[in-house]
Amino acid sequence: MNKLDFVQTILQGRGKLPGDELVSAYAPSNIALVKYWGKRQSELNLPMTSSLSISLASRGVTTALSLREQASDEIYLNQQKISAETAFAKRLSQFLDLFRPPGYAFHVHTHSNLPIAAGLASSAAGFSALVLALDLLFAWHLSDRELSLLARLGSGSACRSLWSGFVEWHAGKNENGLDSYAEPLNIEWPEFRVGLLIEHPEEKMMSSREAMKLTAATSPFYKVWPEVVAQDLEKIRTAILQKDFSQVGQVAESNAMSMHATMLAAQPSILYWQGSTVQNMQKIWQLRQEGMQVYFTEDAGPNLKLLFLAKDEYEMQKAFPKMEIVVPFG
Ligand code: PMV
Repeated sequence: MNKLDFVQTILQGRGKLPGDELVSAYAPSNIALVKYWGKRQSELNLPMTSSLSISLASRGVTTALSLREQASDEIYLNQQKISAETAFAKRLSQFLDLFRPPGYAFHVHTHSNLPIAAGLASSAAGFSALVLALDLLFAWHLSDRELSLLARLGSGSACRSLWSGFVEWHAGKNENGLDSYAEPLNIEWPEFRVGLLIEHPEEKMMSSREAMKLTAATSPFYKVWPEVVAQDLEKIRTAILQKDFSQVGQVAESNAMSMHATMLAAQPSILYWQGSTVQNMQKIWQLRQEGMQVYFTEDAGPNLKLLFLAKDEYEMQKAFPKMEIVVPFG
């Protein structure tokens, strides 16, 4: 099945009637605690494994959308017009092609309060907000599951960005991709904190899309990755349900390190770390030895995200003055 057939299967004849409204939707960014790294099928973004994330509440993307009878899309990012020639605009317009009524172009105003492409999952929040806005614009009234399936086509991890709190993306088994969607875990954890240590806001050196492809194709360690994820998912689900913070932190940190280990062994090696990444890892290990319950995770970028509890907020802010603290269940 190709992308267009997939979209038509989900929409089941729901209209593409152009309205003249301006709609707007928000989606939070999400940080995987057990990562998605590698696809079993790339056309439909079907993952090798399931994954589990925490959403960042107020940190994410708002997208306003309208339709015009004109030749090409107009895309604004944080109030700046983006040239149609950029990779960002091309990726967005190609996604919108799947939903475009003939003769119409989209006006897209995206506002992100996250650094773009610094491994902070802004594309996940972006595609998720876009799908929510499309649902409003065309009055489809899709279910959460259907919205998650569509967001997945934009960027895999976008399918986890429709909710707050902990979210699991079920890998699914079917070739048609209809069983590969995310769902929230029904649990509140008001004391849970995520710290964003943004030392390098610049664009990352390789997209996660390219990096996971190279890893899967060339890394000898990729063979064990699905098994690592299966075990980590099992452990983290139980730990979340029991609110066993140390176990959640340990699993998340070790899963991120395992993912980066598969990348180091790719040919050529993929290393997202900068000097400050390593220094901060060492600082976190030192703090832990001193009794602080703090752990980190890292995606396809040099910035660490720290996991800790509300009781340690003051000490953590002192140790990392530049860190921004997110309250996922605020
Ligand atoms: O959804 P993508 O293609 O941006 O890939 C996301 C990859 C990681 O952020 C490293 C892991 C994850 O599960 O979010």
